[in-house]
Amino acid sequence: MRILSGIQPSGRLHVGNYFGMMEPAVRLQDEGEAFYFIADYHSLTTVHDPEELRRNVRDVAIDFLACGLDPARATFFRQSDVPEVTELSWLLSTVTPMGFLNRCHSYKDKTDRGLEATHGLFAYPVLMAADILIYDSNVVPVGEDQKQHLEVTRDIATKFNNRYGEVFTIPEPRIRDDKAKVPGLDGQKMSKSYGNIIEIFGDEKPTRKKIMSIVTDSTPVEAPKDPGGSIIIDLYRLVAGAGEVAAMEAEFRAGGVGYGDFKKRLFEALWEHFRPMRERREELLAAPDHVEGVLRDGAGRARAAARATLDRARTACGIS
Ligand code: TYM
Repeated sequence: MRILSGIQPSGRLHVGNYFGMMEPAVRLQDEGEAFYFIADYHSLTTVHDPEELRRNVRDVAIDFLACGLDPARATFFRQSDVPEVTELSWLLSTVTPMGFLNRCHSYKDKTDRGLEATHGLFAYPVLMAADILIYDSNVVPVGEDQKQHLEVTRDIATKFNNRYGEVFTIPEPRIRDDKAKVPGLDGQKMSKSYGNIIEIFGDEKPTRKKIMSIVTDSTPVEAPKDPGGSIIIDLYRLVAGAGEVAAMEAEFRAGGVGYGDFKKRLFEALWEHFRPMRERREELLAAPDHVEGVLRDGAGRARAAARATLDRARTACGIS
């Protein structure tokens, strides 16, 4: 089984990225042949400072390795080290009806937020389809927000196969039931573009401050509180055991404890959860050559796999 996923280097990684994609991706390393990559071509649609992009790529590589990506078990690479994917993207675009892309929410969301309506932003899902199809991927672990992109990928692959024969494997998304839509500080989906993220590897003081700023209602300390729909409880559930969550819920209902105390408990639990990864990250920060070597090795393996699929697709459609 081939497992594949990607992450954009468009800023610091956050708790939503971790629980929605990185943690399941790390777990899946043992279940098949895993390919994970840093989607720098995709980030060009939003990051326009070359130095910032290079720095982000380095940071994401270090952070993902710190979070447990094991280069001995998974192939880890930069998307742009396999330029074959852009050629496949073109071949796919010739079978992609405009309607597939017109219905994608993420383009509308991004342009509504003021991003320039470029062709790259519009064609983003085609490049993503190429990422997935070029590695004959069976399973793609992602958060809820990528579900529609996976549907488009499946539709594009089916279109191509119907026109030219069985060239592509049809991939399946792997979306967790419970952690695929992690809320941010304001209760919307955690996302860099909403300014509501908790970084995985932020410094202690600013992280604590962010958690203390989680939005709550104005129920006074003494009064009972509703644990249903509380952002504090939803985040606590990611890092605390079932017993600890039940205890916090009971304290919410009983009253007598303020939101500030619950937030402190959430901070402690999150900080502890990521402690071993923080320590591993310190080691990686001191070994930039090792990290670069991992990406270079990964690119070699990924490129060989990509080349074989691209050749198959080229031959099928009459380019050779
Ligand atoms: P990106 O970089 O926005 O996010 C990386 C992964 O994190 C997940 N995620 C979340 N999960 C739960 N709760 C959240 N609040 C949350 N925020 C982000 C995302 O669902 C994603 O799985 N288009 C992709 C990158 C990509 C890709 C691919 C993914 C490019 N090519 C091929 C899979 C396969 C993206 O922008 O993810």
